[in-house]
Amino acid sequence: MKVRKRSVALLLALVLMIGILPSHASAAPARKLAAITFDDGPGPYTDSLLDGLAERGVPVTFFMQGYRVAQYSAVVKKAYEAGHQIASHTYSHPLLTKLSDEAIREQITSTASALNQATGTTNSYMVRPPYGSTNPRVLSALKAPAILWSVDTLDWKSLNADAVYKHIVNDTKDGSIILLHDIHATSIPGALRGIDALLEQGYELVTVSELLRRRGYEAAAGKKYFSAPGSTTLPGISEPAITPTESEKGRLVTLTADAGTTIYYTTDGTAPTSKSAVYTKPFVMEEAATIKAFAAYSLNGGRSQVAERTLDMPRVKTPVITLKDGMAAISGSGEIHYTLDGTAPSASSPRYTAPVPLPANTMLRAIAVQPGYRDSQIAGLLCSEGGNLFSDVQPENKHYQDIDRIVSQGLMTTKGNAFCPEQAVTRRETAMVLYRMAGSPDVSGTFSVPDVKDTDPARTAIVWAMSQNILAGFDDGTIQPDASVTREQLAVILCRAWAKPQEGDPAPTKLYGFADWKDIDVYAWDAVDWAVSSGVLTGISETAFAPKGMVTRAQLASIVLRGQAL
Ligand code: NI
Repeated sequence: MKVRKRSVALLLALVLMIGILPSHASAAPARKLAAITFDDGPGPYTDSLLDGLAERGVPVTFFMQGYRVAQYSAVVKKAYEAGHQIASHTYSHPLLTKLSDEAIREQITSTASALNQATGTTNSYMVRPPYGSTNPRVLSALKAPAILWSVDTLDWKSLNADAVYKHIVNDTKDGSIILLHDIHATSIPGALRGIDALLEQGYELVTVSELLRRRGYEAAAGKKYFSAPGSTTLPGISEPAITPTESEKGRLVTLTADAGTTIYYTTDGTAPTSKSAVYTKPFVMEEAATIKAFAAYSLNGGRSQVAERTLDMPRVKTPVITLKDGMAAISGSGEIHYTLDGTAPSASSPRYTAPVPLPANTMLRAIAVQPGYRDSQIAGLLCSEGGNLFSDVQPENKHYQDIDRIVSQGLMTTKGNAFCPEQAVTRRETAMVLYRMAGSPDVSGTFSVPDVKDTDPARTAIVWAMSQNILAGFDDGTIQPDASVTREQLAVILCRAWAKPQEGDPAPTKLYGFADWKDIDVYAWDAVDWAVSSGVLTGISETAFAPKGMVTRAQLASIVLRGQAL
């Protein structure tokens, strides 16, 4: 304890002496990166090297000699599909500076076609000139970045695993490109031990293309790269996110990754490779599955870690309940079980076989079960006091009771079990509600309504409303039945339908209590005044009337009930 106190004091004194703390004291150290490279292969030891790298999850870069590729094509393919970077070390290892431009191109193109054939794809390949020997003419003939090295392990000379290991550990710095040769047996254990040591020191080992990308180098053709040190490090490629969502169509799986990357994935639990499916859009997974995916900017040497997600069995679709004439029908897949006492149904609840009577104030709850699937979510619907079943209005809705009463009276209708409470009320609907309230009387007289067909089920109601001067046509004679009704327009229509002649002096208007009273149209003023003073309409708040606002079907149900009470 004492020692620690003293050292803190010492440090403080030191800081005071220096005057300032070093400016980078609080900055996080940049990520240490290095790239391991193997030249002159593929060879007889490459395969076991790949296994050792796979155990460590470390990608490297192979500069291969074209003439060896065909003999070891399975190994080349394995390396490529495992995410290592495949690159070119020319076809037959000549000193490029002694070759003609044409001969250099021949070395490069023949190696590229051998590598393309072995990997089964078309790639561009970085080049390592044999002996590191270049000149401006060679560089321009390569038409690819020339990758040299900054750490030479001299493995070809020592042929000693321990010496290789020591070179790696002692010579590697941030940004190093490390030169090894996978054609020597001793290089493999030396390299793997060196890799373990670097990982322990906090190095992230990447391919050459990733090293350059993450240090902001563009990897330009004809340029030489020996290493890529830097004070900043771009992030590595993120693992894709695997997101399942239950939807109408079943369980949809969405994969997302960094912008500009392509996602490769499998759904059978096997490791994804460059040959795996390419993700284009969300897909349906009906069964339990293990999904694995990686993202890549370029398949040749720049891919993320593999993301994995196990999906259990999907759910059976939630059953659908409909009510007709007091009988509830339940449809869905698998076996359906239900309860009528409000408790959660299970596979041991009564099995649904035919529509069941559903008395008022009863909650029907149903579940679907199917082998190979998880039980569905519970469908639950309350048969209202009025004997209605609303799929889209719950008892918590403040208009629920009013909607129930209005529907039970037959003044407003549902589509199946849907009331569509938030839908805007139209002129047609308004006419029909008022017509039904009036007892659906016979209508005499002829009215020309050009935009309401003779076959329109609302025609009688609209003609009746016009004959009673409740609904007025527009100047061009149209009635615009599908136009929605504003709050002030509804006040005008309801005033004509429901207002009784006033006796005595009218009460002073309440409309000035609304901050937006100026928005009320002159023609509607008296009607709005009547609607508010009679309680048929209220403001949308204490201080706002919103005369141009829409009226929802749920609101209309409550308004009609208030009209009945006048
Ligand atoms: Ni070489």
